[in-house]
Amino acid sequence: MVAIDLSPKLVDLARDRLPATLGQGSIAFLAGDMLDPALGRFDHVVAMDSLIHYSAGDMAAAVAGLAARTAGSIVFTFAPRTPALALMHAAGKLFPRGDKSPAIEPVPPAAIRRRLAASGLTLGASERVASGFYISQMQEVLPR
Ligand SMILES: C[S@@+](CC[C@H](N)C(=O)[O-])C[C@H]1O[C@@H](n2cnc3c(N)ncnc32)[C@H](O)[C@@H]1O
Repeated sequence: MVAIDLSPKLVDLARDRLPATLGQGSIAFLAGDMLDPALGRFDHVVAMDSLIHYSAGDMAAAVAGLAARTAGSIVFTFAPRTPALALMHAAGKLFPRGDKSPAIEPVPPAAIRRRLAASGLTLGASERVASGFYISQMQEVLPR
């Protein structure tokens, strides 16, 4: 398994928090670009909130690029753009940002589905993930 993020700090954190019992196999912790074709082919891909700062176009291009190198399914999450969340997002923009982290890019679920389908990908399950203030949208892309 490859566990990758652009941030070496987050990769270190994931390595530190690894449960003691994981069963068989091994994990390669890498700091780098998960979209780099040099990583080779994958059986499955899970991108947990990795694409939430991408526009719909960049997100669809990233998923399509991964799909070309993945034998099985891809599951990724993104910030869904809904009327209520758009309002919250707009209100948040009125306040100065205290850090330099990139802004979350809310994307309408239908828009990302349309773009992925236009790239020839077959879509699977789509589900809202919500826990307290955390809200995201999970989208599955089926094997080709
Ligand atoms: C909102 S954080 C989510 C972090 C983690 N996946 C989680 O669920 O807690 C988004 C992360 O995606 C990473 N990211 C964005 N594009 C990436 C790429 N092309 N390759 C690797 N990591 C990427 C960023 O470095 C950032 O740490």
